[in-house]
Amino acid sequence: MNRTPFSKKTRIVVIGTGAVGSTTAYTLLLRGRMDELVLIDANAEKAKGDALDMNHGMPFLGNTDVWAGTYEDCRDADIVIITAGAAQKPGESRIDLLKRNAAILESITDEVLKYNKDGILLVASNPVDVMSYLTWRKSGWPARRVIGSGTLLDSARFRYLIGQELQVDPRSVHAHIVGEHGDSELPLWSLSNIAGGQLSLNEEKKAEIFANTRDAAYQIIEAKGATYYAIALALDRICTAILRSEAAVLNVSTLLKDYHGISDVYLGVPCVVDRTGVREVLGLQITEEERQRLQASADKLKGVIASIGL
Ligand code: LAC
Repeated sequence: MNRTPFSKKTRIVVIGTGAVGSTTAYTLLLRGRMDELVLIDANAEKAKGDALDMNHGMPFLGNTDVWAGTYEDCRDADIVIITAGAAQKPGESRIDLLKRNAAILESITDEVLKYNKDGILLVASNPVDVMSYLTWRKSGWPARRVIGSGTLLDSARFRYLIGQELQVDPRSVHAHIVGEHGDSELPLWSLSNIAGGQLSLNEEKKAEIFANTRDAAYQIIEAKGATYYAIALALDRICTAILRSEAAVLNVSTLLKDYHGISDVYLGVPCVVDRTGVREVLGLQITEEERQRLQASADKLKGVIASIGL
């Protein structure tokens, strides 16, 4: 009897196996997200070592094919995650990484596109909104298939801190950080709620929670040199929404077109993410003050984009 073959194996490629890339790869592996996991790094020995180390854990995990590969392995990738590039040093802003990482992302995009035409590019390299915009422009792909990790991580930090303050599971806290994944990000307090109810937080506590959210990466980098666990979980969440075509609402970075009057810039906003990438951007009823801060965030990033000639 001729059995119809199973649909093709799912493949995720992680480019950059530094702290974020290797932790993301390991997170995806632990959660069994894909059939094939390919690690690519400029330091081929590092990628090879990570693949070996992960494969030795297979008897505890199950059967995912993991290997250190080359850009040719992007050919059949459903998702190519780009984490390569310099990371913030203590006191450095994400924007400070711009020039170093722009060149790296351009080169990586050129290589990926030699082999992959219909996958999804998921960018985590900072400054992630600008790097996502650059990757989109360079790829020529529809913006829906070039996604930045955006403010998904910031929103998770925000929800965690609110949950800690109100003693509620952060999964039951609905709250959004939007805009730049960086210093000009902003909280949408007007939409934040628990079970549809307004949050019982005074202005001082709100200011404290937002400041700790916005500055979290600085605090962590000062303490241990880099962030990688929560961003890995955020990237895993995005990959799951794509591979399972969940139509999940996630604050990823996407190209805005007349979004509260904002166009031609990548920003973190609530998007519906499914197998096709960003299916749609969710319109939000926000206050005038929130809209002005979102506009200011967009203006900042447009200036940065212009500064690298895009
Ligand atoms: C952070 C990095 C991923 O916010 O930008 O931890």
